Amino acid sequence: MSRLFQRSNPWFLVMSLSCVLIALSSWRGFVAPFEVVMAHLVHYLQDYSLPLYAHIIFGPLALALVPFQFWQGSRHRPVLHRWSGRLYVLSILAASLGSLAMLPGYQGSSWTAAGFFTLALLWIGTTGMGLVRALQGRFAEHQIWMLRSAALTFASVTLRVMMVPLIIAGQTPLETYDVTAWGSWLINLVAVEAWLVWRGRWRMA
Ligand code: HEM
Repeated sequence: MSRLFQRSNPWFLVMSLSCVLIALSSWRGFVAPFEVVMAHLVHYLQDYSLPLYAHIIFGPLALALVPFQFWQGSRHRPVLHRWSGRLYVLSILAASLGSLAMLPGYQGSSWTAAGFFTLALLWIGTTGMGLVRALQGRFAEHQIWMLRSAALTFASVTLRVMMVPLIIAGQTPLETYDVTAWGSWLINLVAVEAWLVWRGRWRMA
């Protein structure tokens, strides 16, 4: 995998930049009036403020950490890699539990809620497997599971990219979720699985 995650690889650079930019823009509710820049989330504030804040603080943090964790250089700094990996896992735990706790207050369709629900479960599952394999010293499998976890974290980028043509076509942000709540992560996951098969590294252990 190492050549893919070098700074000189343009794909890696574009992916890293999009992670950092989407993470930074996701924190906009903390620097500008929340009810203006995140108006579509205000309805969560009454009963779901804790899970909402957990989700929109730690989801972007996990996303911002993805490029560093995969960057080949971080593997030569094992202490840093380990600590930022712990932060990544804890961020995903907080963000995914936050999204699960918010879902009863979600105002879209149950089809969409099911997509987010499945994504949250897979996010916890793949990240948990990645952590367990690292603790067992099974680093080849650790990389594979963390690649799956990162594909799901990156769904937040894919979702926002997919929203653009749908909004231009006249859909409201809530309507776009009917496609993106499933499509944003299925595309990433299928791409990662296909890449693992192509490289002869596919494993489900
Ligand atoms: C992978 C599992 C994830 C699930 C299941 C999930 C689920 C959700 C749900 C249900 C909402 C509320 C949508 C609404 O009511 O309008 C939401 C909003 C949000 N999520 Fe996630 N999310 C996930 C990952 C992430 C990640 C990795 C980020 C990092 C950027 C993130 C950042 C946000 C932000 C900033 C919002 C507020 C909406 C906005 O900015 O337009 N989420 N998420």
